[in-house]
Amino acid sequence: MSGASGMTGSELVRQILESEKDSRIIGFDNFFASSIDTIRDFLDNSRFAFNEYDINDASKMRIVEEEVVREKGAFDRVVYINCAAVVHTEHFYEVEHTWETNVISMKSFLEQAIRVKADIYINCSTSEVYSMQSWNENGGVRESDYLMMSTAEHSQRTSYACGKLMTEFFMKDAVDKGKIKGCSIRFANVYSKHERFAKHIIPHIINELLEKNSVKLLENSKKNRRAFLHNIDSCRSVMALINSEKALDGTVYNVATDEEITIIDLTNKIAEKMGLPKPDIIFEGYRSSDPERRILNTEKIRTRTDWFPIITLDKGLEMCVASIER
Ligand SMILES: NC(=O)c1ccc[n+]([C@@H]2O[C@H](COP(=O)([O-])OP(=O)(O)OC[C@H]3O[C@@H](n4cnc5c(N)ncnc54)[C@H](O)[C@@H]3O)[C@@H](O)[C@H]2O)c1
Repeated sequence: MSGASGMTGSELVRQILESEKDSRIIGFDNFFASSIDTIRDFLDNSRFAFNEYDINDASKMRIVEEEVVREKGAFDRVVYINCAAVVHTEHFYEVEHTWETNVISMKSFLEQAIRVKADIYINCSTSEVYSMQSWNENGGVRESDYLMMSTAEHSQRTSYACGKLMTEFFMKDAVDKGKIKGCSIRFANVYSKHERFAKHIIPHIINELLEKNSVKLLENSKKNRRAFLHNIDSCRSVMALINSEKALDGTVYNVATDEEITIIDLTNKIAEKMGLPKPDIIFEGYRSSDPERRILNTEKIRTRTDWFPIITLDKGLEMCVASIER
């Protein structure tokens, strides 16, 4: 597993160790956007081997490959999960970096999985690929919908989405050619209690509220709505797909919730859960090529697997607020 100490990776480590009792995880991360803290509790577990490796470092990836080859005989199946990526809004504009890590190294990692004859490859893609057409009047965009993307004429931000879209083609090609089974997952707005210092909207609001009773939001927030997906649920979808062989046909799966909320209501809800009065909201700055809504139709994963989200926004936010050290 790449990106093993990230938000998704670390929760997946927890869920795999808990539910797949005969499994062993070989995980790595270069701590670009995470730290050892998220996986500290698992480091003593003999079923989890972790190393500080960069997915872009071919020599380190050879070590991972050798370890998989050495160990695979003892297991029924080998699953590659690629969570390593340059993620988060502030990095979306870094074209070269996202290309190298998110596309080139996704492909190298997939080629490694094919070389070692792994059974499954899970590719983490993103709902960002829906770009400017992230919702419709029928209750959400589908995997098969045509895309309407911002381009370099509008914003460098779309380079992240374009890179992720490219990985979906590599995934489909490998499965169509019978080299491996797998799929791509388009997650939407994942959050967790581990995100406190990141720049995503939920930790941003919590941090602002902790410092003062006012929250700075982008001008976009006057209109924007989002549906948030708790990382317990995003990782449950990975587990559901891994265990649904027929679903591993190389195609794409939307993973999201239907609980849409305006960013202003989200701010007030978090303040209420923190026991604070309704905060002042200051609007400052504008992000171009940011869709007003993002609603994903999740019928495909719900019909092909037994997945459905179990963490409501209320519960998820309570978990975030409960983890704050004041
Ligand atoms: N967070 C979201 O809302 C969201 C939404 C859609 C898709 N995704 C996708 O889900 C996957 C997991 O993202 P996440 O939310 O856990 O983000 P994250 O940033 O918490 O995790 C990504 C991990 O990859 C690691 N990483 C980055 N560059 C690396 C490199 N060169 N070598 C090794 N490790 C490296 C980071 O240190 C981090 O731990 C990513 O592919 C991301 O694109 C996330």
